[in-house]
Amino acid sequence: MAYQFITYAVSDRIATITVNRPDKLNALNDATITELGEAIEEARNTEEIGGVILTGSGKAFVAGADIAELSAKKPREVLALSRKGQEIFGRFESAPMPVIAAVNGFALGGGCELALCCHVRIASENAKFGQPEVKLGTIPGYGGTQRLPRLIGRGRAMQLLMTGEIIDAAEAYRIGLVNKVVPATESVVDAARAMLKQMIANGPLALMGIVETVNDGQDVTLPDALEMEAERFAELAKSTDMQEGTKAFLEKRPPQFKGA
Ligand code: COA
Repeated sequence: MAYQFITYAVSDRIATITVNRPDKLNALNDATITELGEAIEEARNTEEIGGVILTGSGKAFVAGADIAELSAKKPREVLALSRKGQEIFGRFESAPMPVIAAVNGFALGGGCELALCCHVRIASENAKFGQPEVKLGTIPGYGGTQRLPRLIGRGRAMQLLMTGEIIDAAEAYRIGLVNKVVPATESVVDAARAMLKQMIANGPLALMGIVETVNDGQDVTLPDALEMEAERFAELAKSTDMQEGTKAFLEKRPPQFKGA
C-alpha cells in the first residue's frame, strides 16, 4: 500500500511502521491516524509478519495530535476524532503479535498515548515523554487518561496529566513507563528488533494468547480473568506448538514452532 505520512517496511518477519512527518515532529493529523490504522491492519493481516515496531523519523517519535488541525475543529468533530483515534490506536494494542514502540525522541500527547498502546516501550536516552494537553486547556483524547494510570499507577499518572510536565527517558524508566533505555549512540530500532527477535522465536499462538489474555483480563474481575487464563491454557494444550515445545524441552533441543 502507498502511504504519504508513514513508511512501512518488512524484513525478517518484522514490520516497521515509521511516522514520517518530521517537519511537524510527526504530529498526528487525521490522515496520519488513518494511515497508521491501515499499516497496522496490513501487518495484522500478513501471515509472515511475527511482530511490529512503531517508531518516528527525525527527532520525534510523535509530538502529539496536530494542534493546528485540532484547533479548527468543532466539538462534534473533536468527539469523532477522539473515537477514531481511540479505535485505531486500539488496533496496535489488540494486535495478536508483539508490538514494540521504539521511542526515538518526543513522545508527547497522542505520541505518548500511541506508545502506551504498544505492548513494550523501548526509549532512546534522548526520548522525552509527557501528556501536555492540560497546558492547551484540554485532556488526552486517545486513551491517555485510562492507560497511563493502568501502567504507572494513579498517583504518578495524575501528576503527569495535571502538570503537563515533560520527563526524560531515565525518569520514564524509573516510573515504569518504558521497559528499557538505549544509549543515544545506539539505535533504538535495533534494540527493538533484538527484543522482537527474541519474542518471535516463540510460538505465535502462545504470543497471541499472551496479548489477548493480558488485555482482556484488564476489563473483568480477577476470578473471571483467571478463568479466561485457564481456558486459554487448555486451548493451547491442543496445539501442535505446545506438544512440540514440551517435547523439545524433554529432548533437550530447540523447538520448531509452526503456529498450529
Ligand atoms: N501539532 C502541530 N504541529 C506541531 C506539533 C503538534 N503537536 N508539535 C510540533 N509541531 C510543529 C511546530 O509547529 C513546528 O512547525 P513550524 O516549523 O511550521 O513552525 C515544527 O513542528 C517544529 O516544532 P518546534 O516547536 O519548532 O520544535 P522545538 O524543538 O522547538 O520544540 C516541542 C519541540 C515538542 C517541545 C514543541 O514542538 C511542542 O511543544 N509541541 C507540542 C507538544 C504538545 O503539546 N503535544 C500535545 C498535543 S495535544
